[in-house]
Amino acid sequence: MPTIDILKLLNFTPAKWDDGALVILDQRLLPEKEEYRRLITVAEVVEAIRNLSVRGAPLIGVVAAYGLCLVYDPQNDDDFKSSCRLLRNARPTAVNLAWAVDRMNAVRVDALRNENLRHKLINEAKKIHDEGAEMCVKIGQHGNELIPQTCNILTHCNAGALATGGIGTALGVIYAAHFSGKKIHVWVDETRPILQGARLTAWELSKAGVPYTLISDNMAATLMAQGKVDLVITGADRVAANLDFANKIGTYGLAVIAKYHHVPFYAAAPSSTFDPHCSDGKCIEIENRAADEVRMVGAQMIAPSGAPVYNPAFDVTPHELIAGIVTEKGIVKP
Ligand code: MRU
Repeated sequence: MPTIDILKLLNFTPAKWDDGALVILDQRLLPEKEEYRRLITVAEVVEAIRNLSVRGAPLIGVVAAYGLCLVYDPQNDDDFKSSCRLLRNARPTAVNLAWAVDRMNAVRVDALRNENLRHKLINEAKKIHDEGAEMCVKIGQHGNELIPQTCNILTHCNAGALATGGIGTALGVIYAAHFSGKKIHVWVDETRPILQGARLTAWELSKAGVPYTLISDNMAATLMAQGKVDLVITGADRVAANLDFANKIGTYGLAVIAKYHHVPFYAAAPSSTFDPHCSDGKCIEIENRAADEVRMVGAQMIAPSGAPVYNPAFDVTPHELIAGIVTEKGIVKP
């Protein structure tokens, strides 16, 4: 099935440029409400990245690129540079943010004296978006080679269309397998504290008609012990040169239990998520988020107010635990 059909089937657009504004699907409201917002300033884009209205490593890169098309006066050095800084620092872990900002900055430097500067910036942002979508298709094709005709796949967080602007990375592989006629079933980790699995991945898979079962994060080991998981695949937020990678908190624990149960564990990520300046996982900065994300489930407070909380949003999985990383160029093995 061609990609366009999968995106049509999903029938949502996480981010797009529309007549001088960036239109985003507010992912905080899913799955109850599908609400789009028009962002017209860099400050609004930075806030949307920070508060997870838009999230997922490749998508926040795309959104940052569109954000730089909103700089009031892109010819003005101070304006543009401070916008680059704000967008680059909106969240620290996914390298796609810095990667996209650097690409946009290079186009600006080339075209600084050009009347068409804003037009050139918009073109570059669209190119980043389109290239990311193409990479997802290729990741799906390469990853599909790993999936047997019948397969129970476990995934964590959301590495789908909502996280990329294409069909997704880990979910790109899952869609490719499903639509090539394989009999797959997906175990979806709910992914506390923000529940990207329950709210977003389950929503995407049900829209696409992929069979899935939602589990809470602490059920994965039992499923593996019962022989009910054939393969684990997740996304990644930053991949170091030695293939250690950061992804949503809980990924490392999954990789440990997968190794113990001899279940192959793969990450899927485009080359924009690889950080050549980072030799291993130790140099990946991990974002710490607000305490109430852990104290609450949705709008409901579940802990004593003021309960001390530790809330790292990501963890690092060492390369020894993984079978490989699926990229648009093929599968890289540690
Ligand atoms: O905090 P989030 O929701 O932005 O975290 C997202 C993840 O950890 C994804 O798994 C990762 O970005 C890969 S998305 C293709």
